[in-house]
Amino acid sequence: MFFGGTGDLAYRKLYPSLFNLYRKGNLRTHFAVVGTSRQAMDHEKFRAAVKKSLADSGNRVESKEATDFISHFYYQAHDVTDTAHYAVVKDLLDKLDKKYKLQGNRIFYLSMAPQFFGTIAQDLKTQGLMSDNKDAFNRLVIEKPFGRDYDSAKQLNDALSKSFEEDQIFRIDHYLGKEMIQNIEALRFGNTLVESLWNNRYIDNIQVTLSEKLGVEERASYYDNSGALRDMVQNHIMQIVSLLAMEQPVAFTDTDIRAEKVKALRSLRVYNVADAATNFVRGQYGSINDQPDYRHEDNVPNDSTTETFVAGKLLFDNYRWSGTPFYVRTGKMLADKFTRVDVVFKRPLVDIFAFPQSQSTPLAANVLTIFVEPHAGFSLQLNAKTNDTGFQTEPIKLDYLVDAEKSKETPEPYERLLHDVMKGDGTNFSSWPEVSYAWKFVDQIRRVWDLQEPNFPNYTPHSMGPAAAEELIQRDHREWIYRLNH
Ligand code: NDP
Ligand code: BG6
Repeated sequence: MFFGGTGDLAYRKLYPSLFNLYRKGNLRTHFAVVGTSRQAMDHEKFRAAVKKSLADSGNRVESKEATDFISHFYYQAHDVTDTAHYAVVKDLLDKLDKKYKLQGNRIFYLSMAPQFFGTIAQDLKTQGLMSDNKDAFNRLVIEKPFGRDYDSAKQLNDALSKSFEEDQIFRIDHYLGKEMIQNIEALRFGNTLVESLWNNRYIDNIQVTLSEKLGVEERASYYDNSGALRDMVQNHIMQIVSLLAMEQPVAFTDTDIRAEKVKALRSLRVYNVADAATNFVRGQYGSINDQPDYRHEDNVPNDSTTETFVAGKLLFDNYRWSGTPFYVRTGKMLADKFTRVDVVFKRPLVDIFAFPQSQSTPLAANVLTIFVEPHAGFSLQLNAKTNDTGFQTEPIKLDYLVDAEKSKETPEPYERLLHDVMKGDGTNFSSWPEVSYAWKFVDQIRRVWDLQEPNFPNYTPHSMGPAAAEELIQRDHREWIYRLNH
């Protein structure tokens, strides 16, 4: 069942994803979907809204398949803040359980504002909505954000833990549902060539870029209370970094993978005040032509100090990564919308082609790029001889890009994640220890930033962020691999 069943996320992402699962046979007959929210509506009106959400996402809805799927949807008006009111939902769940022979298996998806998460979890238990069949499952899916710092996240987690065990809680991070993020493990642990070089002896630095072209759009009131550090770094970037940094899991199971991610995050250096101030920089976009600066966007206070850009350097104090920094950056209103990871290898220790009479340019670093979006694929930059007399080298690229046909078949993140919840597979969800280490790291940056008034705005829309982001990496005699006009 979906709390917040009439919300933007449910209509735009969750119901179309469920329909994809149905079309592919992952949901057949033994299921019912209940949507709740405060507004009054009957089942038929709700089904009409679900039908529209499927149509809006490009599905053919005048079909028996769509009609059958939608017939499994039910609606119950319900206010989550009214404990006594849970009884009506319980009645409906019990009735549908019998009708569809669900044997007590229940998934509660909290697609609501985060302040309600704790209350709902508590009332689900106290008001008897969780199935008491000991062979059945009760699973809780939590949308982001999971807290706004370590203390609030811990408070929320403590509240959830009163009703649900850790293995029943599925904390959504939709980046973990993306094809190429999941491919990091295949690339690393499926290839001797890659994994044997995946350490500080061969890798000079790793760069993670999550770049967004749009501004805050209609989410300004949420975003202004969050900022890029909390909105993107604490969750998506930390998850990607932990997949890149972790050791090989004993087996490909959620428990083993999460254990390795947690170990990696535990060895991430939490900065002291001075290091936090030097290793992380922030930005806020200014104006250009018709584009107002961030402070003049709708619902943003015109003295806002919220950052719309972050770049930082992460250091792991462990045997594999000591001395190899991970540079990360993300922001709104940047040059383009894309996500990529650039793994920059060390140059050969000796360049034998650079003898005195040679006109050869110095050997370039090998770079392995993982293109996450908008195009999925990999690229490996190597040095090769130019097709010429004499002996010069030049960088060449081996590219693999997923073709358009295959891309169309790629499941949406929410489709994969809903499927995983149904299977009870927690691999692509954030465990509490991961979330807590990520907050502890991010809180320290936030604490230092809160001591100083930033000089905003400091970057031009459609650029790659403020000059400070360039200085951050140039100080280490390195460069961002993705550059504008590159
Ligand atoms: P919306 O504001 O669009 O929807 C909120 C839903 O909660 C509505 O169905 C609303 O219906 C219901 N609701 C609000 N108050 C109550 C109440 N007291 N009792 C019962 N129902 C209530 O939010 P979104 O769908 O955008 O977001 C939902 C969650 O997903 C949030 O945690 C958000 O951070 C997260 N998220 C959303 C994304 C998106 O793209 N939308 C992206 C990533 C995460 P009503 O007012 O009629 O009660
Ligand atoms: C969300 C953030 O988690 O991720 C948004 O709250 C951001 O601010 C979005 O725009 C980016 O996701 P994607 O999948 O479009 O890269």
